[in-house]
Amino acid sequence: MTQYSKRMVIVHWLTLLLLVAGWFLGEDLAEATDANKATLYGYIVHALVGATILLLTLTRLVFRNKDGTPPPIGQSALDKFAKGIQHLIYLVLIVLPVSGITTVISSDAGKAILAGDASLLPKEGGYDHVFAHEVHEILVTILIVLVAVHLLGAIKHQFITKDGLMERMSLRRKS
Ligand code: HEM
Repeated sequence: MTQYSKRMVIVHWLTLLLLVAGWFLGEDLAEATDANKATLYGYIVHALVGATILLLTLTRLVFRNKDGTPPPIGQSALDKFAKGIQHLIYLVLIVLPVSGITTVISSDAGKAILAGDASLLPKEGGYDHVFAHEVHEILVTILIVLVAVHLLGAIKHQFITKDGLMERMSLRRKS
């Protein structure tokens, strides 16, 4: 195999789209909470995107196991570092949504959603002592850093090394 399977490629790019959507929805939610204007709808849409990312990542690991991956592009320390970053990304793609679910369960948000009453949702400072919320926020920053490093690696392969690495994550099949 010289390219990722089509379903691995589709999930890779779908995850990027969902992460961007999840990030904007999360920022909106945080601003709404600070302004005491959060809605149940805002929580549910953000949570659905996060849960989809979690399910997609678990499905992706099954696909990866079944379909295999292209061989390492090289054996240098930098190549191994890039692989390590990919593995960390997988880990964060699982723990980040789980920390979101834990935030809801361990805060007033869970009670508000169960009661269907937006007035019970956490207000400004309402998450100050919710540990899972701290973890959720820190993991967002960590994921942004990991993806930035990953993107820099892809740019290096595309424009400096010019070794066709991007084709491995493309739906266009090499003949
Ligand atoms: C921003 C633009 C992105 C580009 C240009 C890009 C490009 C690539 C490329 C070319 C590969 C194949 C690397 C190889 O064969 O060694 C790859 C793999 C991978 N990418 Fe991305 N990627 C991007 C965004 C993301 C995002 C947002 C995530 C998830 C947060 C992600 C997670 C991964 C993972 C986990 C792998 C390893 C696949 C595996 O071996 O199972 N990528 N990416």
